[in-house]
This record gives sequence, C-alpha cells and structure tokens, in this order.
Amino acid sequence: MIPETFIQELRFHIDIEQLVSSYVRLQRRGRVAVGLCPFHNEKTPSFTVYPESQSFYCFGCGAGGDAITFIRRAENLDYPEAVRFLADRAGLRVPDEGSDDAGARLRLRILECNRAAARFYYDTLVSPAGARGLHYLRERALSDATIRRFGLGYAPAEWNALTHHLHSLGFSEEEMLAARVAASSKKDGRAYDLFRDRVIFPIIDLRGGVIGFGGRILEGEGPKYLNSPDTPVFKKSRNLFALNRAKSSKQQGLLLAEGYMDVIALHQAGFDHAIATLGTSLTAEQTQLISRYAREVTIAYDSDGAGQKATRRALSLFQQTGVKVRVLKIEGAKDPDEYMKKFGPARFRLLLQNCANATEFEINRLRQAYDLETADGKVSFLGEFAALMASIRNPVERDVYIKKTAGELAVSPDAVLQMVASNLKRRRGGEEKKQQRDMHMYVGAGAHGALDPERERNLKYALAEERIIALLLQNPDYYEYIAERIGPEQFVTGKNREVFSRLCERLRAGQSVELFSLSGVLNDEEMSLVSGLLACSPTAHHSREEAEDCIRVLRGRENERSSNEVAAMDEEQLRDYFQKIASEKKQRL
Ligand code: UTP
Ligand code: MN
Repeated sequence: MIPETFIQELRFHIDIEQLVSSYVRLQRRGRVAVGLCPFHNEKTPSFTVYPESQSFYCFGCGAGGDAITFIRRAENLDYPEAVRFLADRAGLRVPDEGSDDAGARLRLRILECNRAAARFYYDTLVSPAGARGLHYLRERALSDATIRRFGLGYAPAEWNALTHHLHSLGFSEEEMLAARVAASSKKDGRAYDLFRDRVIFPIIDLRGGVIGFGGRILEGEGPKYLNSPDTPVFKKSRNLFALNRAKSSKQQGLLLAEGYMDVIALHQAGFDHAIATLGTSLTAEQTQLISRYAREVTIAYDSDGAGQKATRRALSLFQQTGVKVRVLKIEGAKDPDEYMKKFGPARFRLLLQNCANATEFEINRLRQAYDLETADGKVSFLGEFAALMASIRNPVERDVYIKKTAGELAVSPDAVLQMVASNLKRRRGGEEKKQQRDMHMYVGAGAHGALDPERERNLKYALAEERIIALLLQNPDYYEYIAERIGPEQFVTGKNREVFSRLCERLRAGQSVELFSLSGVLNDEEMSLVSGLLACSPTAHHSREEAEDCIRVLRGRENERSSNEVAAMDEEQLRDYFQKIASEKKQRL
C-alpha cells in the first residue's frame, strides 16, 4: 500500500504536460495542449492535456485521467508500478518499497551520506577549523541562530577531509561519488572532496532530506558558487531552496529571490516566505511546484540587467500557472540582501507592500524599450501598450492604466482607448472562433458517455449529476452544502452514483479529491469520466445556485416517480415517504 502522503508529494514533482510530451507531440493552444491520441488511431488531434487540472482527456476515444492513469495506460503498468515509474522519474523514493529495489537502496544511502556530510560541514564551521567560514558568515551579518537554522557549514581547504570522515562512518567511495559530495581523480581514480574552502548551503527537500549543496567561495580563484550536480535524489530543476521552510510561513504567498544569500538574509529579517532556484534559471516545473503552495508570488530578482531579463522570463512562465505575480523593484542596491543591509528590513517591507504587479512591470519595461521623447517612439510604444491593455480582462483596471499612461505621455486618452478597442475586437474574434472549435469538439466527439445507454435514457438527470460531480471536484468546500441536500441514492445513473459516492466518502473522511489522489481509488472508466467532466467544465467558478439547480433537477425526478409509486406503497413505506417529505420541507425553510 503506497501512503497517500507520498502520492501527494509525487504530484508536486510531476508535470503532466511534460510527461505526456515524452510520448505525444503536443502543441500548446492557450491553456491546453493537444496532440494525436496515443490510445486510439486518429489523424486529427483530439487528445487534450490540461495543465491547470493536471489531467488529460481524449475527445475521440474518451480516455482520460491524471499522470498516473496516463502512465498506466502508456506503459501498460499496474497502479503501484506506475507510481514507482513516476517516482523514479522525479528522483523520489517510494516508501516501504520492497528491499530488493537496488535503486531505492542507493537513494537511501545517498540521503544518509548527504546528511552525514551536512553534519560534518556544520561541525567544522563551529570548530576551530571552520574559523574562516564562520568569520565570513558573521561578516555577512548572519546570526548564529540563522546559521544553525539553515545548517550552514564550512568545507575545509583539504582534499580528503570529508571523504575520510565519511569513510570512517562506513560510506563507500561509490556512495560518496553517487552523492556527488566527492569527485574521482583523473589520475588515480581516487575520490576527493568536491567542496573545498567554501561555506556550505545544504539544500533540503520537502520531506526534510538533504538532497544537495551549494558552496560559496570565500575569496580567490574559481566560480563564486559551486552546486551539487543532479543525483538520483536531486533534480535542480524540480527543487527550490528553502521551500521546505517557506511553505509553512505565515506571510502571504512566496517571495522568489535569485540567490542563497538573499533567501537566508530575508528569512533572518522575518521574510520567511523567501525561496530561490538552485543555481539555474527558473523552470516550468518549479513554477508548477510554486503554484501548489501559493496563489501569489513576488519576484525579487537582482536589479541588474540579467535579473530583469530573468524576471521577464519568470513572468511568462508563471503566466501558464494561474499564480498571481508581482515584481519587486529594487533601487539603490543590487539584490534584496544588499538592500536590507543598506536600508533596513522595515524599508524592504514597504517595498514589498507597494510593489508593482505584472502589468506595471510590463508597462515600465515597454517605456524603457522606446524613446518616448520622439514621435516615432511614442507611436511604437502605444502600439504595444494597446495590445497589453487588451489582454487585461477587468475594464476598470484597463481604464486606470490607460488614463494614467495617456496623461504621462501627453496624448489624448480617447485616441489610446480607440487603439485598445480595436485590439480587443481582434482578440474577441479569435476567442469566439476558439470557443466554437471547442464546442464542436465536444459535441462532435460525443464526449464521455456517448456509448452508455443508461446515460442516454436519462440524459437530463445524468447531466445534472455530472455537473454536481464536476462542481464537487473543483470546489471540495461545497461538500457539506451538497451532502446535506442530496445523497448518492438519489442519483439516477449507476456510474455517476458510484463516482459521487466515492467522492463523498473521501470528502467526509477529510481526504483529497484531486485527480492525483483519485487514480488509486477509481477505475479507468471512472477516471475517464471525471477527467472528461473536468475537460468540459473549463471554469472552477461555480456558484451555489448552480448546485441548487442540479439538485432540484434530481429531486424533481423523485417527485415524478413518487406520484406513480405512492399508489403502490404499503403503510410503512408511506409513513417513511411522508416523513421524508416533511424533513425536506424543513430543510428548505
Ligand atoms: P549572485 O552572483 O547574485 O550571488 O548569484 P548572490 O546570491 O548575490 O551571492 P553573494 O551575495 O554574492 O554571496 C545568484 C545565484 O546564482 C547562482 C547561485 O545560486 C547564486 O545564489 N550562481 C551564481 C551559481 O550557481 N554559480 C555562480 O558562480 C554564481
Ligand atoms: Mn545577488
């Protein structure tokens, strides 16, 4: 039995679009990606991947599900095998795996080796041998408490300090090499310490495992930072520095900085929602990971050109996740660390409170890209500005930016409004066409239950049931409201009833009904059904009224039935029947 907590964690490490891309050539179409279905023969793509709900659905054959379902089908594996397959891909170990799994054992040893190395680096830092390192960190204004909290350390300027120590603890050279805390000499193949004369930043994953290290040089030659290469337990592109701490911060959202030192200084100053990438630029996997923990992220990259370029890149990556992004403008310092040192944390907090949203950042960038002193520059700027405005959905927000910018450029707001309007028109046309196309796909393919005669016979009720299920999947917080008003026994079609009652069982027990947790509970057909529902129910904004409508439809059927059936009831059945009606009336009052 694979623990639910592990499935939850695995989910954070798997991106369905990326996963499916290794099997199917996918093409992005706005918020979805489409390709030729790997599960049936087709010439035009009806296989659709939904990054937002991390699901897939084929409008041609009705196959659907989450990443685990996909792998089960694509690789022809059973459920535990598929989980293991995905865990391997993510560099995770499945707990309680059979002890005969060599890969799992190695990963475990690497984690133990890393932990021992982190311990060694820390002990060295606070011993006389680490005086240089400790001095450096204190110079950079880190307190002893911070040093301890982050388990910072020092790697001595020797070739075999760590390797000897690990050897004495029973670690083999192969294990040290696999953990990449050691490298092997080209000359004689012997292992030597990878990190020498550097202060060490251990990288901890969400389960508290030490998965790798960053090491900063104190002075002298060589790269400023050295990072552990990827190992079976460490994928740089899928982890974030300090997320293990930031995820339980009371601050709102996450604060994304560029460097280890920024993050540590920020945490020390109380901004314990700070995280950073691990010596590489931000990846889609990381933005996805972030989206699991935060609805809002503030980018606090370095103020130099590289930092600004990275910010733009990050903005476009986040655009696909639904995470709200704000951008911090750091002036007078190169990065958050330096800013706080110069101006103090209180001023940084102000900066954080007043920082620009993604739109403001983009407007600023456009302003800098054109020479607004010249007529030509103004016209080109306004062209791009109008397109940017057309992408904003909220008309009031749009209006605010347009008025403000028109004023600053000394042009008539009406002229700008007109440009925006024509942009909007073009945009709407495109969207309508797309909607028609989606509609066509839905109807044309007959969607999920076309082959289910029970559904066809009771279409009106089946549709109401399906909407209730979709609603519950997207708004688990409606559970009580719905459960008070309708139960599985009032569902008409068997399949929907089964799925609904499974969902209710889980919600009653406080368990998740996200697709990723469902694939262990529902069978293939049921997974296809729920994925199809999510696919055809693009918005998660359902109202209670919508639930109420569906419930009324299903209850209406009860009444229809009863008029015929009441006549045939015996006395006891009649008493039950009237009691039920009475209690329903009370509920409605
Ligand atoms: P920075 O050069 O901005 O370093 O690189 P920093 O974090 O501000 O460090 P200090 O304050 O100078 O000590 C930002 C991040 O880029 C990666 C590291 O992850 C670093 O934290 N980096 C930088 C490397 O991986 N290697 C390098 O040589 C330099
Ligand atoms: Mn920096």
